[in-house]
Amino acid sequence: MKDKSKTCLTGIKPTGMPHLGNYLGAIKPAIEMANSEDFESSYFIADYHSLTTIYDPTKLNEYIYEVAAVWLAMGLDPNKSTLYKQSDIPEVMEMNWILSCFTSKGLMNRAHAYKAITQDNLENKRDADQNINMGIYSYPVLMSADILFLETEVVPVGADQLQHIEIARDIANAFNHHYGEVFTVPEALVRKDFAVIPGLDGRKMSKSYDNTIPLFLPEKKLKKLINKITTDSQPPETPKNPNDSLIFDLFKLFAKKQEITDFDEWYKKGIGWGEAKAELFKVINRELEGPREIYNDLMKNRHQIDEVLVQGRDKVRPKAQKFLNEVKLKVGVK
Ligand code: ADP
Ligand code: TRP
Repeated sequence: MKDKSKTCLTGIKPTGMPHLGNYLGAIKPAIEMANSEDFESSYFIADYHSLTTIYDPTKLNEYIYEVAAVWLAMGLDPNKSTLYKQSDIPEVMEMNWILSCFTSKGLMNRAHAYKAITQDNLENKRDADQNINMGIYSYPVLMSADILFLETEVVPVGADQLQHIEIARDIANAFNHHYGEVFTVPEALVRKDFAVIPGLDGRKMSKSYDNTIPLFLPEKKLKKLINKITTDSQPPETPKNPNDSLIFDLFKLFAKKQEITDFDEWYKKGIGWGEAKAELFKVINRELEGPREIYNDLMKNRHQIDEVLVQGRDKVRPKAQKFLNEVKLKVGVK
């Protein structure tokens, strides 16, 4: 029997060092959930999802370590929650196939990410399917397998992943329709306060827009990047509107209440953009400097990361095997 706490799960694709958007939108809320008594949490590195786009083995391997080290450096306690690597649980792949037999092709045709690439191809007068491999096309099925095999109840994600959770729900319902209540139908959890973190150019911070602030840069580089935030040419003494300022938006995500009030007043009195950026650097760096040291240390001692991932695999795999057996029995292949 399950205890009172809800099971929660999320995955991060290793496609590069996570940035502030990933941290605030996905990692931080997930760690808060992991540290609360209300959730039994499992987090994983979605390395097979990265294989849809990354064909460089050295890079992919490096990114796997980077993402694992970010989770740990940011405070994920591997004894309170489980951290594992997707490819360490081969049962997910069997589940992936079973689920794909309950996924209508139309559902995949409507997936935003796939549609966006098709659209872009057509706009640029290329064949609609150019550069789309089957991994990209059926990405949401694998994601459903990730979620459903652990009987997940809650999936903390950024707003852009909502459609994927809807798809996982549809697939679970389609299966349950035939075989009874086998899969738990998951719910997405999007933190409204952190829904979309803006990047250096004011658009959504994303690796695809090349506008990110990676989490762990040497201090000097972090300062340099923050100085790149686009500002207008108003002189320092001109009163400025804090509600129309990217620097202020980012500041609010890291500062304390009183600091925000003081910054707000400073804006209204007139602040120089150089000063504003220096203040922003201070609050971001304050939150990241401790974890940065832990991160650097872990990346130099990767066996520590390996140990955590093995511990995670050993916790998750028996559950995956047991549940997969139940599902195989249901469909009649056992
Ligand atoms: P990217 O767009 O940089 O490739 P991913 O798609 O790998 O980022 O996102 C990983 C996780 O981080 C997802 O849960 C996503 O919703 C969240 N996330 C990414 N960018 C942001 C952002 N700018 N604001 C809030 N959450 C974000
Ligand atoms: N698609 C997610 C992303 O790009 C990563 C992911 C893979 C995931 N499997 C998942 C997230 C399962 C939540 C649950 O961010």
